[in-house]
Amino acid sequence: MSVPETNLATPAQLLAHFRALDQFLFAHQQLWRPKPFTALQLGWETEHPQLARWLRARNLEQAEAAHNQPHLLAAPAPFPELARQAIALGQLGQLPRRSRAATGTRLGVDVPGRKWQQIEAFGSCLQFHQQPAHWLDWCAGKGHLGRYLAQDGSALSCVERDAQLVSSGQRLSGKLGIPARHIELDVLQEEAAGYLESAQTPVALHACGDLHVRLMQLASAAGCRQLAIAPCCYNRIRAEHYQPLSAAARASALQLERDDLRLLQCETVTAGQRVRKLRDLSMARRLGFDLLQRQVRAVDEYLPAEALAPAWLQRDFAAYCTELARVKQLDLGGEHDWATLETAGWQRLANVRNLELLRSLFRRPLEVWLLLDRALFLQAEGYRVRLGSFCDTRLTPRNLLLLAERE
Ligand SMILES: C[S@@+](CC[C@H](N)C(=O)[O-])C[C@H]1O[C@@H](n2cnc3c(N)ncnc32)[C@H](O)[C@@H]1O
Repeated sequence: MSVPETNLATPAQLLAHFRALDQFLFAHQQLWRPKPFTALQLGWETEHPQLARWLRARNLEQAEAAHNQPHLLAAPAPFPELARQAIALGQLGQLPRRSRAATGTRLGVDVPGRKWQQIEAFGSCLQFHQQPAHWLDWCAGKGHLGRYLAQDGSALSCVERDAQLVSSGQRLSGKLGIPARHIELDVLQEEAAGYLESAQTPVALHACGDLHVRLMQLASAAGCRQLAIAPCCYNRIRAEHYQPLSAAARASALQLERDDLRLLQCETVTAGQRVRKLRDLSMARRLGFDLLQRQVRAVDEYLPAEALAPAWLQRDFAAYCTELARVKQLDLGGEHDWATLETAGWQRLANVRNLELLRSLFRRPLEVWLLLDRALFLQAEGYRVRLGSFCDTRLTPRNLLLLAERE
């Protein structure tokens, strides 16, 4: 099948793309669903022993170097072919950009640099046949995106659950002379339906799972002509299982669990060096502890536990394990060879990170599957849909945007 070149996809193109992704993800689910972090051996390793051996022979630095571009890895079969298919199926192209009227630089003053660049990129992709008269910034935080858009003189409403963000947003709008309404609202509550009007153009930059789905449903019901959504945190849903939105996804054999959706959160393109180091330390310790708890319990199974407070990473490995065992009410018994266990934890981390490279090939295809589920839903609701990236992944890994417009 050919992936649509243009961003405006016909219903048949969207459906064909969705089905191709669906087939790909379903056929290879044994490669991307099991998590190396929680299993000592993965089912697929017996099927592809050469690939498993090759990945397991690599170190942590090599995994890190390949992390953001796993498809370039010269790994044994079937890795290269899967990478090729994943790239082809996960491609959506860039949305056309148009520079907006000059921005008052004052607007960006209180906004972290990367967030401001995301806002500018998001804004430059918003092209609708009908000029928006009233922006509705959904889960707006302080409403930076809304204020950026409302420079064109249109009205602005921002809805947000966090009272502090609402009042900071209201203050900022006042300071900048933008007549915005900042409304404290839990968009998941029933009353939220009353805040949407047909004349509004809702926009949502990085509204998590249920929050942007709620927007699509309410905006369509309210008769909004157009909306723009850049989803994120697909795993932040109340249901245990993913609830498909479109007929095609409902008919799919792929039954996603909330945990499967976490695959999309494993991308760390934007994390700094210090954050990565701490994350590695925390994971290596958790993996070392995992080996210990398997011995102590005589159960060869991962034991889920909340992460310990970061201060425990400053303590030595023995203290860390003792605390985690206390939290899990686990009797560690006699003496342990802490140094060996700690080293084994780091070795496992290298294995996990390298084995993860195979899973990560499926990250974008899964994300596009989820986005197409949304697009197909909106299409069935009478919208024409455009999909594509609004910025580079280096600015944010969640760089896909869905534009929907009713005739
Ligand atoms: C990832 S932030 C994005 C904020 C903003 N759109 C941006 O891009 O900077 C998600 C926002 O959703 C808000 N939020 C979470 N749950 C909500 C709910 N149930 N109703 C309204 N807002 C909610 C959070 O407080 C947070 O400000």
